[in-house]
This record gives sequence, C-alpha cells and structure tokens, in this order.
Amino acid sequence: MWEGLQPELAAVATGSHIDAIPYSGKYDGVVGVLGAIEAINVLKRSGFKPKRSLEVILFTSEEPTRFGISCLGSRLLAGSEALANALKTTVDGQNISFFDAARSAGYANDQDDLSSVFLKKGTYSAFVELHIEQGPILEEEGISIGIVTAIAAPASIRVEFEGNGGHAGAVLMPKRNDAGLAAAELALAVERHVLESGSIDSVGTVGILELHPGAINSIPSKSHIEIDTRDIDEERRNIIIEKIRQSANTIAINRGVRLSEFKIINQDPPALSEKSIIEAMEASSKELNLTHKLMISRAYHDSLFMARVSPMGMIFIPCYKGYSHKPEEFSSVDDISNGVKVLALTLAKLSLE
Ligand SMILES: *[C@@H]1O[C@H](CO)[C@@H](O)[C@H](O)[C@H]1NC(C)=O
Ligand SMILES: *[C@@H]1O[C@H](CO)[C@@H](O)[C@H](O)[C@H]1NC(C)=O
Ligand SMILES: [Zn+2]
Repeated sequence: MWEGLQPELAAVATGSHIDAIPYSGKYDGVVGVLGAIEAINVLKRSGFKPKRSLEVILFTSEEPTRFGISCLGSRLLAGSEALANALKTTVDGQNISFFDAARSAGYANDQDDLSSVFLKKGTYSAFVELHIEQGPILEEEGISIGIVTAIAAPASIRVEFEGNGGHAGAVLMPKRNDAGLAAAELALAVERHVLESGSIDSVGTVGILELHPGAINSIPSKSHIEIDTRDIDEERRNIIIEKIRQSANTIAINRGVRLSEFKIINQDPPALSEKSIIEAMEASSKELNLTHKLMISRAYHDSLFMARVSPMGMIFIPCYKGYSHKPEEFSSVDDISNGVKVLALTLAKLSLE
C-alpha cells in the first residue's frame, strides 16, 4: 500500500492473479500484478503524490485448478458466506485441506473466521485490473487498449440422465431408454436456446459429455453433461437456464429416462464497469495517444467479484492471436508497457478524485 495524502479516504486498488492452469501461458493474470507494481513505481518516480492511498492486490486461486473453485480469493474478499462455509470442508486433489494449504503458505488464520477477510463496501473507491484480452479483437483491429464496460458471467449446470442400459444387440429400439441420446438431445437444446436469445452476447457450451458404461456394445445407462452458459445480461442468461431446465425435463419424459440430477453449480451475476472509471481509462488512453475501444470481457476475472464491493474497471491489452490458457500465450513488451502507462495514469486520476 502507498499511503496517500488523505489516507482516511477510501483507497484505490489494482491487481490481478498469478496462479495459472496446467500448461498455460505466462501472461494471464501476471501482467496485471507486475503491471500494477510497475504502475505504482512509475508514479513514484514521476514525483506524483496520491490523495487517496493506492493498493496492489494479488489474488489467490483465480483458476479453479487446485480447489475446484474459480476466483477463490476475490470471491471470498467480496464476502461470500457460502464460500466461507464450503472452504471448511474443501480439499485439493492430494486431500490437503484449504486451511492446511493456507497455513503452509503463511496465512494462519482462525479456521472458523474466514468472514474476517470480507471487504466492507466502501473500502475501495475504485478497483482497476490490467489484463491480457484473451481474445483476438485488439490485435486484429490494431488497437492498443481495450476499455472493459462489462464482464459476462458464467453459470454452470450439471445434468445426469439414467436409463436401463442393456445389450446393444439384444434390446430392440422401441424398448430402449438411452441416457446417451437424452444427453445428446439436451446438448442440441442448449445450442438452440442460446441462439433463440437473439443476442451475440449469449453463449452456451457443453464441454463435458460422459457416457456410462462407455462400451461400444452397451446402451448408455447413465450420462453426465456439464453446461457453461454466459451473458452480460443476467436476466437473458437466466431465461436460457430455465429453458434448458424445461428441455431436460421434457427430454427425460419423452425418452423414458430419469433426470437424476439438474444442478446449477454456480450462477454469478455479470458486472458493469463504473462510468467514472471508464471515463478515467478513456481520458488516460487519449492523453497517451493510444488507440482504444470500449469492449466486453467474455472471460471472467477477479474484477467480476470485486465489482460486488467496489466500483470496478478493467484495461485490456492485445495478445498474440487471442491465445490464452496455453503456452503460446504472448503479449509484446510494447503492448504491456502501453497497458501499464494507461493503468498508472488511471490510478493517478482516480486517486485525486
Ligand atoms: C482425507 O483426509 C481426511 C482427514 O485427514 C481423512 O479422514 C480421509 O480419509 C482422507 N480421504 C482420502 C480419500 O484419503
Ligand atoms: C500526443 O500527441 C500530441 C499531439 O501530437 C502531443 O502534443 C503529445 O505530446 C503526445 N503525447 C504523448 C504522451 O505522446
Ligand atoms: Zn486471468
């Protein structure tokens, strides 16, 4: 934290995450953490005196890799009671509890009082995150800076169908209740319901479809599918979820299978950037003579959760072919430097407000 001239005022915060998925790139998150530290250094070197204090936040576990929970750090800071409770029993793939992991990383807190880390609304007057775009738009259009106006939020749904299974030769077609075909039909229904929304911002994906017992000569007796659907409009996304639920029920009835599970695993609301922060980011880009455009973040970030307790804004920089979450992920030094400059100037403006 860099104390401002008026430390009693709500501080301005910036930061991102440094964890990553296996076999990922080196820029997702890291640019926003090292960039935040450099932006503060730039302001210090320039002799700037902030009015509001400036803080850098390094979030833990943005990716769900270790504990199966995405944005664990920011979600908890934003005051999720449900997460604080769930973490009491959360273990990683090696059966190491969240609390043991936290202690061994030097964060020995009272086990039962995770709520002590919840941020009060008003702690920060603004939170700004610098991040690689993770999409191809800025590079394709030759634009230096993306100013994020909204972050789309995902909902994930787990569905299971159960039928009688049976021998692939012996059970005749009219006698079947094939759990695999029910899953296939639901996957197509997901696509249909998303397209029916009429908005290019609605998306839906069936990324997991597993059949049991998974043998070529056995009618699937169980199917398991996981659906991810996102939008920047929460109501529109929730209508899609309702339609998927109705389709799952109808498909189960028509095919004589049992819908043994329809579980919404998470349903986070989307977030809008704060107008005054968008204006500060735009003004900064202009003063630095950097081309910029307003855009939507279709991936989600720690900022999605920080938006629950603080006005929020995000700065995107181009990345090679939009690649992310793979080793080819890359942003040039020039692009990173542009992002850090815009971040520094934006923080300076916000700290004087
Ligand atoms: C995980 O650890 C707990 C507590 O140490 C133990 O009771 C449990 O049996 C372990 N589970 C597995 C699958 O090893
Ligand atoms: C931006 O361009 C203007 C006009 O060409 C120039 O006066 C100014 O110094 C430039 N600013 C920066 C930061 O390069
Ligand atoms: Zn990230």
